[in-house]
Amino acid sequence: LRHMMNPLDFSVDELEALFDVAGDIERNMDKYAHMCDGKILATCFYEPSTRTRLSFETAMLRLGGKCLGFADASNSSAAKGESVSDTIRVISCFADICAMRHPKEGAPMVAASKSLIPVINAGDGGHQHPTQTLTDLLTIRSLYGGLNNFTIGLCGDLKFGRTVHSLINALTRYSGIHFIFISPKELKVPDYITEMLDSKGITYEEVIKLEEVMPRLDFLYMTRVQKERFFNEEDYIRLKNFYILDKAKMALAKEKMYILHPLPRVNEISVEIDSDPRAAYFKQVQYGLYVRMALILTLLDMTDAHMNHDLLRKF
Ligand code: CP
Repeated sequence: LRHMMNPLDFSVDELEALFDVAGDIERNMDKYAHMCDGKILATCFYEPSTRTRLSFETAMLRLGGKCLGFADASNSSAAKGESVSDTIRVISCFADICAMRHPKEGAPMVAASKSLIPVINAGDGGHQHPTQTLTDLLTIRSLYGGLNNFTIGLCGDLKFGRTVHSLINALTRYSGIHFIFISPKELKVPDYITEMLDSKGITYEEVIKLEEVMPRLDFLYMTRVQKERFFNEEDYIRLKNFYILDKAKMALAKEKMYILHPLPRVNEISVEIDSDPRAAYFKQVQYGLYVRMALILTLLDMTDAHMNHDLLRKF
């Protein structure tokens, strides 16, 4: 029984195989329309979501399966005090695979330890968001032609942003990546991450001004200031508009620098940027669907029965 708790749960070769399947799904969606006939996905979301939940549900529907679940834990028995461990035992009787989002770090891991079906971490507190990372990696790979040798700026809330923590973790396995962390000092990347980079000899810089580093970036990963993780409203209000990416800042960027954002955005990317060919954040959402379809097939062990990865790699 295999789960997806952290992007590092899959080796680099396994991720390549997953991305190959996602690429084939993008080109030949119809071929996959019945691969999950009779299968059921449960989405258990204890925290709000638009993209992750709906893309998981779309993924299963496009594979021919069905979905059930809750998008609001106050309507589930969690409101009566049921534990995540008991909930997943119940869900294991109904569904074949489960995607779970929870505000508590580690809650999907607790669920996985008691589950009889594959569990996917769809975001746990400020910790990890592995399927967003798979989405980000697939987007970078598709736009850049690979996952090595580039400079990526991560900008905004690097303290609470789980997508950033997950992505940094995943990118450390590739070579020639230079990180530039752009944040106010209150929202800097946690020490455990910079210590991990130091221990692996991976280069990074920490700066406050986005304009200073803009000309050197191949990717700019913007993030929302995570209001829901602040302890007080006053700090959030002070920091929420610290970075706003606009045309003036984009004029400093390379012609081929791509803008990524896990979304939702508040106002850290001005809508005037949406029509810039370098804006890749809505394309990212599409890649999120393909990679979640590929992940469902992989965790249900349904890829090898239908596909030959070696053959796919030739295309
Ligand atoms: N990127 C992301 O996790 O978006 P949602 O919160 O809408 O799922």
